[in-house]
Amino acid sequence: MVFPEYRPRRMRSTASFRSLIRETHLSADQFIYPIFVMPGKKIREEIPSMPGVFRVSVDMLAKESKECLDLGINSVILFGLPEKKDSMGSGAHAKDGIIQRAVRELKNKHPQLMVVTDVCLCEYTDHGHCGCLIDKKVDNDATLEILAKTALSHAQAGVDMVAPSDMMDGRIAEIRAALDENNFESIPIMSYAVKYASAFYGPFRDAADCAPQFGDRRSYQMDPANSREALREATLDVDEGADILMVKPAVAYLDIISKLKDEFDLPIAAYHVSGEYAMIKAAAANGWIDEEKVMLETLLSIKRAGADIIITYYAKEIAKLLRK
Ligand code: PBG
Repeated sequence: MVFPEYRPRRMRSTASFRSLIRETHLSADQFIYPIFVMPGKKIREEIPSMPGVFRVSVDMLAKESKECLDLGINSVILFGLPEKKDSMGSGAHAKDGIIQRAVRELKNKHPQLMVVTDVCLCEYTDHGHCGCLIDKKVDNDATLEILAKTALSHAQAGVDMVAPSDMMDGRIAEIRAALDENNFESIPIMSYAVKYASAFYGPFRDAADCAPQFGDRRSYQMDPANSREALREATLDVDEGADILMVKPAVAYLDIISKLKDEFDLPIAAYHVSGEYAMIKAAAANGWIDEEKVMLETLLSIKRAGADIIITYYAKEIAKLLRK
């Protein structure tokens, strides 16, 4: 059927009709809200390059996440700023480390909140790389053991799910084994399976103070030019025991989200990262775009591409908008 018999505009004439045939919906319970935790007491400081996002001390966490729960956002992902950094990132798995304390505090105050932790070393190493160094190179196999120890320490603190973001080869299997050996077989792994070496992480690195002190992350994070490699990375993680596959960043990689959704039957997560958030904020602050509409359209595009779960700094704002 072609024009004039078929007229697509017929079904766009009213708001009710448009909503009747709408294919994609956003819902608060599919968002994960990232929270940066820092040492100290009664601290809640705004991150300059991420307006509306705060670094909070452990004692402020319960309040920060209560706001999420009240808005129907059931999950948070934690990133930690340790008191001290060292070459091996030992703060990442310290029993009384910042994340371990944060997890205990949150599970104690809000048992119903789903607490996810980022498992990586870059926030804990003094050189800012995601693994430990041998001869100034990030050593894959030596890093695996530290990552597994880190994930295990999060599990012992009571975390609901771990999310390794380091991009070392073989880390999913290593973490799965460490969890299983210690009776944490029911804790799922959300793998940052396809994580690109992206310039969109800039504001996050300010927030978490984790920019590499030399070189860059291109020897472990993926080349933005590659898409078939994404399938290989995801296949490996599935075989090693990942429960959820993540693509990161989101908007510049919608094709990758869509590919993974077609190829795999695991839930797909997408990380709408700091730079993607900051760009909208900056343009909106200049009055160049309508923030609400652009936020909605952006998150909708991520969902439409195939993401089941979206990690976003906009979680609270979009949840508020969806309530209206
Ligand atoms: C840690 C990590 C990073 C992000 C999430 N986990 C930074 C990086 O890899 O450099 C970025 C998230 C964001 O930009 O919002 N490896």
